[in-house]
Amino acid sequence: MTEDAPSFDGLIAACGLPRIDARALAAHASGRTREWLAAHGNEAVAPAIAAQFRALARRRAAGEPLAYLLGWREFYGLRFAVSPAVLIPRPDTELLVRWAIEHAPPEGRVLELGTGSGAIAVTLALQRPDLRVTATDLSADALAVAAGNRDRLMGAAAGRLTLLQGDWYAALPAEARFDVVVSNPPYIAADDPHLRQPDLACEPRGALTDGHDGLDALRAIAAGARRVLVPDGCLACEHGWDQGAAVRALLTRAGLSGVRTLRDDEGRERVTFGCGRAPDAGADAEP
Ligand SMILES: C[S@@+](CC[C@H](N)C(=O)[O-])C[C@H]1O[C@@H](n2cnc3c(N)ncnc32)[C@H](O)[C@@H]1O
Repeated sequence: MTEDAPSFDGLIAACGLPRIDARALAAHASGRTREWLAAHGNEAVAPAIAAQFRALARRRAAGEPLAYLLGWREFYGLRFAVSPAVLIPRPDTELLVRWAIEHAPPEGRVLELGTGSGAIAVTLALQRPDLRVTATDLSADALAVAAGNRDRLMGAAAGRLTLLQGDWYAALPAEARFDVVVSNPPYIAADDPHLRQPDLACEPRGALTDGHDGLDALRAIAAGARRVLVPDGCLACEHGWDQGAAVRALLTRAGLSGVRTLRDDEGRERVTFGCGRAPDAGADAEP
């Protein structure tokens, strides 16, 4: 093997990245599967592909997230297209999705606020084909990514997911009502040092932080929920592991009852939900 015609095994060993990242970038640069690379890694690589791999590896080493370099991230077993216009969907968010799959009533109407790539809304619509889903975002660029994912992953069923642009509930027609509202809003405080980590610094700032204490978006979402929920409808929000008590207080103050927080596999509080009262549950059921 000459220096001009390196193998992928050689390129991967030389790039200094963790093997799992390097192999993913090699597969991306070559258009081959990781399985093909495992079997053919010692074969000579065309110079243009080697150059593309080295360029991607340099960007990864500088901190660009792997998902942006590959252009996709898997969520709930589906491959979602991502770009720097959207948050990279996190496995943590599957907790919120599982809650919604279990709790949305048959034939229910679901609203997702702040859809980004559309990972939550598309997954819900595919896992529960009886649901009608509306998803919103402030960012037109994010909605374009979500629309691409919806059309590719939902095909003929794409009509069951409506995308709307606007500031939280302002995106909705006045008469819109939902059985379930879910959101994974920006909840990192503006002064959180994690925002300066190279990978987070590549993601849209408006998807990560409210620019304030990390609770502004959750305040707005909680405060507006009862106006769009049917009387016994429910709101569920993802939040930071240390925000459980604050979010429970916000949902309670917003008039929701049965407020509870779900923990992730590590025992951290990550999703809080509450519901309006059923019409026969008491005189104070209606706001
Ligand atoms: C944490 S990301 C969640 C993205 C996606 N739902 C997910 O879980 O991967 C928050 C999303 O909220 C959107 N967002 C931020 N402020 C908003 C606002 N005022 N109104 C609507 N969407 C907003 C951002 O553009 C971003 O897409």
